[in-house]
Amino acid sequence: MSTIKAAVFASGTGSNFQAIMEKNNLHCEVVLLVCDKPCAGAVEKAEKFGVPTLLFEPKSFASKAEYEAMLVERLTEAGVTWIFLAGYMRIAGPTLLEAFETKIINIHPSLLPDFPGKDAIGQAFEAGVAVTGVTVHYIDEGIDTGPIIAQEPVDVFPGDTEETLKKRIQTVEHHLYPEVINQLMRK
Ligand code: GAR
Repeated sequence: MSTIKAAVFASGTGSNFQAIMEKNNLHCEVVLLVCDKPCAGAVEKAEKFGVPTLLFEPKSFASKAEYEAMLVERLTEAGVTWIFLAGYMRIAGPTLLEAFETKIINIHPSLLPDFPGKDAIGQAFEAGVAVTGVTVHYIDEGIDTGPIIAQEPVDVFPGDTEETLKKRIQTVEHHLYPEVINQLMRK
């Protein structure tokens, strides 16, 4: 059986990328990290794991369709069939969505459909909810929309700060995302 090849897309510190890479017996091979920001911590982590990085600057392209066409070409060359968004803070357009239909998943730090978009943890904290959580979902053309695959709740405690809440949410992310990936890769 040939190994499924995947790419992780990240714009941030890359802790979810790291969790995927450190999963024992991951049922696919991460062959590329795609990053839209040169300073993202994820790039350093990719070096550590020996994963090639595709770094691109969206502003240097005339349009989203243009940079996504470049991404599709590079991903196809690398044999990638699945994409895991891990803190990639851009909305996918039709070029990427059509090329990888039903093969792009995302992790988001809230119980969607609550608190989509940026700073979901801050949004939940400000709203004063007693429970928030983590969602893994297929993506579509919306902001953190698309069919939900798995969710895990996280309690908000009375003494929580945004930082303590974030830490607990990220701990859940780091076990949930690699587990969901393995379930999907087994199918
Ligand atoms: C994660 O908490 C992820 O859920 C979130 O960005 C963070 C990236 O952290 N994604 C979104 O908010 C998507 N809308 P990381 O770079 O340490 O993995």
